[in-house]
Amino acid sequence: MRLDKLLANMGYGTRKEVKQLLKQKGVTVDGEVVKDSSMHVDPDKQEVSVFGERVEYMEFIYLMMHKPPGVISATEDNVDQTVIDLLDPLAQHFKPFPVGRLDKDTEGLLLITNDGQLAHNLLSPKKHVPKTYYAKIDGIVTNADIEAFKQGVELDDGYVTKPGELVIISSGPMSEIELTIQEGKFHQVKRMFESVGKKVTYLKRLSMGSLKLDELLAPGDYRELTQEELEGLKSK
Ligand code: URA
Repeated sequence: MRLDKLLANMGYGTRKEVKQLLKQKGVTVDGEVVKDSSMHVDPDKQEVSVFGERVEYMEFIYLMMHKPPGVISATEDNVDQTVIDLLDPLAQHFKPFPVGRLDKDTEGLLLITNDGQLAHNLLSPKKHVPKTYYAKIDGIVTNADIEAFKQGVELDDGYVTKPGELVIISSGPMSEIELTIQEGKFHQVKRMFESVGKKVTYLKRLSMGSLKLDELLAPGDYRELTQEELEGLKSK
């Protein structure tokens, strides 16, 4: 890869700005000052530094965000703040996008990456990646609902859902549940409860495949995935 491309990709400015860095003798490859921005380097084998600081080349970025309510799971929006707006400029430089959507009022686990292949695999209906949600429900959730979700329920557009696993945490006028589904239809959890005459008043995603929301992340915070978390997702 060209040295100027590598440095530009890693957030050291435009290719023109990178040229200036080289002119200032700020860039070394394997300890040698380099002036030619078109030089080809192998980031896996060669050590590139800028003003003495080693550049760790990364092509892909993988972030776990605790999406807060009130922001949109999109890269751009004319009205609302997006999850990408919450990232620092260095992370934004990788042009990441959210993997799937959570509603504006839903919070919880959101994977943000620029790895299109991984996103495709996780979202593919063929892969049946399970997603678990915690929800508060206006209404008494019953064993009949567990059975209905296991069989599949008909949504308002006639679509019949695949089996979902409903666990009742507490049942009363305001119930608490966990629901695991293997699809991601629009507003699916809310619509599944509507189909049994109940309303979701709070929704939070807890997990997606092997990836679990790090409860140490406050709403709006994010961190890189650990190697183990990434390997777990890729092995699906
Ligand atoms: N189901 C919903 O209804 N909303 C979400 O944000 C995610 C799943």
